[in-house]
Formats: sequence, C-alpha cells, structure tokens
Amino acid sequence: MRLRVKPARTLQGEVEVPGDKSISHRALMIGAIAEGETVIENFLAGEDCLATLACLRALGVGITGPEAGRVRVKGRGLHGLTEPADILDAKNSGTTMRLLLGILAGQPFFSVITGDASLRRRPMGRVVRPLRAMGAQIMARAGGELAPLAVSGGGLKSIEFASPVASAQVKSAVLLAGLYAAGETVVTEPALSRDHTERMLALFGAPVRRDGLSVAVRGGPVLKAVPVRVPGDISSAAFLLVAACIVPDAAVTVKGVGLNPTRTGILDVLQAMGARIEVKVRDAGPEPWGDVTVYSGALRGTEVGGELIPRLIDEIPVLTVAAAYAAGETVIRDAAELKYKESNRLRTMAVELARLGADVEELPDGLVIRGGKPLKGTMVESYGDHRVAMALAVAGLAAAGETVVQDAGAINVSFPGFVAALTRLGAAVDTEILA
Ligand code: S3P
Repeated sequence: MRLRVKPARTLQGEVEVPGDKSISHRALMIGAIAEGETVIENFLAGEDCLATLACLRALGVGITGPEAGRVRVKGRGLHGLTEPADILDAKNSGTTMRLLLGILAGQPFFSVITGDASLRRRPMGRVVRPLRAMGAQIMARAGGELAPLAVSGGGLKSIEFASPVASAQVKSAVLLAGLYAAGETVVTEPALSRDHTERMLALFGAPVRRDGLSVAVRGGPVLKAVPVRVPGDISSAAFLLVAACIVPDAAVTVKGVGLNPTRTGILDVLQAMGARIEVKVRDAGPEPWGDVTVYSGALRGTEVGGELIPRLIDEIPVLTVAAAYAAGETVIRDAAELKYKESNRLRTMAVELARLGADVEELPDGLVIRGGKPLKGTMVESYGDHRVAMALAVAGLAAAGETVVQDAGAINVSFPGFVAALTRLGAAVDTEILA
C-alpha cells in the first residue's frame, strides 16, 4: 500500500484515535491468567494486538471478538495455560514477544515464539537474561539474543533485577514472570518507563509495590478479572497533534486519549516548542484520559534527552517532523533505543526527512534537526515501520507538492483508521493498493 499526501490547507475538527496499544496487549495477557471473564472495551484491533490475541488462543485461552471494539477473555487463572501445539507468532510486535516470554517463563511446558523479519532482528537478550536468572530455560539464535526463542519454563525463583535499559517491555516481562516465582521480584530501571503493567496488575488484585524507580510484585497472587476500558492511544494521537501544529489555521481536538504521565512527554515537548495545547483531563484513573486540543502556530527548536526519552520514545519519529518545521535547532539525545525499534528510527527518519529537504544529522544516540528549511514532497520509504510511515505522511501535509509514502501498509500495526482520521480533519490523502 502507498499513501499519496497532498499539502493540507487546514485541519479542523474533533476525532478519536483507536485504543492504546500497550494497554490492549496487557488487558489480553493479564486477563488470560486471571480468574473470571475480562471484558475489554475500545480494544485496539491493530495487527500487533491481534498477534497477542492469536498467541493466547494458541495457549488455550478462550477469546471472543474483537467485535465493535469489545473483546471477552475467559481467564484460565495463573496456572491454566496449556502447551501450544505449534510455534507462536508475534509478527511485528515486540510487546507480544517480550511480555509473553515473561509469562511463558512461568509455564511448566515447552513453547517456541518467533516473529517477522523485523522482529527477528530485534534484541531479546535483555529479557532472556533476567528470565534465565529466574530459572527459565531459553534457547535462541545468536546465543539467546534473537528469535525464534524456545522456552521450557516453570520452577522460577524471584530476583532483584536492575535493568540496564528504561524499557517497559523488559520490566513487564520480569514482573509477569515474577507472578510465577516464590517471594518478591523487584525490577529497578534507570528512568521510569510506561507503567501500564504495574497499574493493571494492581487493578486485578496483585500485590504491587512501587518505590521510586523500583517496582515489586509478589508471586502466586489470585488475579481477578476486572472490566477494562482502553483509552485512545496518545502515540497515535501524536501524529494528528503534530499535524495540527504544522498545518496553517488548524484546530484539532483528539477526544478520549490516554494521559498516563509516563506517556505524555510529547505534550510537554510540543509545549516547550511553543505549540498551543489545551488538555482537559476527564478521568483520573486507573489510567487517566481526556481531550487534547492543538492549534497551529510557530514552533521553535528544543532539546530533548534524559528521563524524558522513555516518556515519548514512540513519538520521536513524528517529533522529528515537528522539529523540521520549527525555527532553529532541535537536539535529541539519549535515544539510542530507537535503533532497536521496528526499524532503526534514528537512521530511517534522518534519511527520509533529508529526502524531503530537511537538514538532519544522525548522532550515535539521537538526531540534530536544523529546522525551518522548506520541505518538498517526493517519494519516501517507510521500511515497513508503522510510525515512520505515519510520521512521513504528516511531514507531507505541510510540504510543497505531493509526498508519496511507499510500503505504508504497516500503519495497520497500530493505527487502523489513520488515513480516515486525517481525511475527516480535511486532509487529502489517497490510499493506493498496489497489485
Ligand atoms: C512498549 C514499550 C516500548 C515502546 C513500545 C511499546 C510496551 O518499548 O516502544 O512501542 O507496550 O511496553 P521498550 O520497552 O522496548 O522501550
């Protein structure tokens, strides 16, 4: 699939974005090992979460839906999963693979998990090492680094794990394995990453304890099914919010979007760049959400690094687009993790924005974008990375002439309805299905 993006004269109106990807994955997984039926509303029916759903079915979990955003998960309890008859396929989804590895590590059976070519290149040693330390047997390519991974789990012991990366996937994998270990498992991270797992485990009744950058869970809890309403995904909203910043005379409201403070770094940075943003919190929790309105206006460059990075890790591709349209220099540091996403996002955004005429320099751990050069539409490449595809489409809305985003089908990984949302706001984006 290819997108043809024309310059937008304006963007106006209210939209909703699909359910949060991270929360949708967790609701399925935690629902699967809880007792009772978990009903999930506003579930993200994107390819990543559907991969999780299929893996859980293969582990014996009865799941109906998604139908009109609703999924019913018949929980099997902590010890009710069954050995899968075939290889589990996480497709393009790092969250599916890493979080499921945590659960599989606790199971007294054999399982194998793999994914698509992109996921088979991504680092898994970061979860394999702590899970092995807990007692799971895991074999994988490249000495335990690359999928496919084969797991013989069970008989885990708790650990205190200091994660070298601020990664919610690593933290979550260890916490989920910790449910199966005797005693208390503690994970400490160098900066706070998204905390959806710990919030949801607590909601389902697990004894979770937070102390600064450490979070602990005690093994053997009874998890009790709880209804989950998934807020809109702020990572999807970010594309529309940046679009509203850079297109003239725009006023866009994204309704019902998740506002968990571990995810709202993009709002802070856009505000620091001079964007006019109004946030109306409508519900404080357990996962806060509300409405966000953005008006177009002149942006200026900024510096982004340190503890802010995990709070906007998935928004950096579209942030580079905002930076290209801002006056002055934007420097992004401490973001080497972007090399290990669905594509090497430092490289892919540097190369593709440069094709559009932006001045971008790649650093070992970030990017320098010297903004304000006029961008000109051309043919750009997504590398099969959903967020790169959407970021480049947003760049095209404020570029001169037509921008063609190739290989854009990956958008369905996280934001089915992306083109429809932009169209509803007044943009002209055509989808071309290629034979
Ligand atoms: C996610 C965590 C982040 C993020 C990913 C989703 C999650 O990855 O980039 O899109 O749901 O836990 P890392 O934990 O690898 O940083």
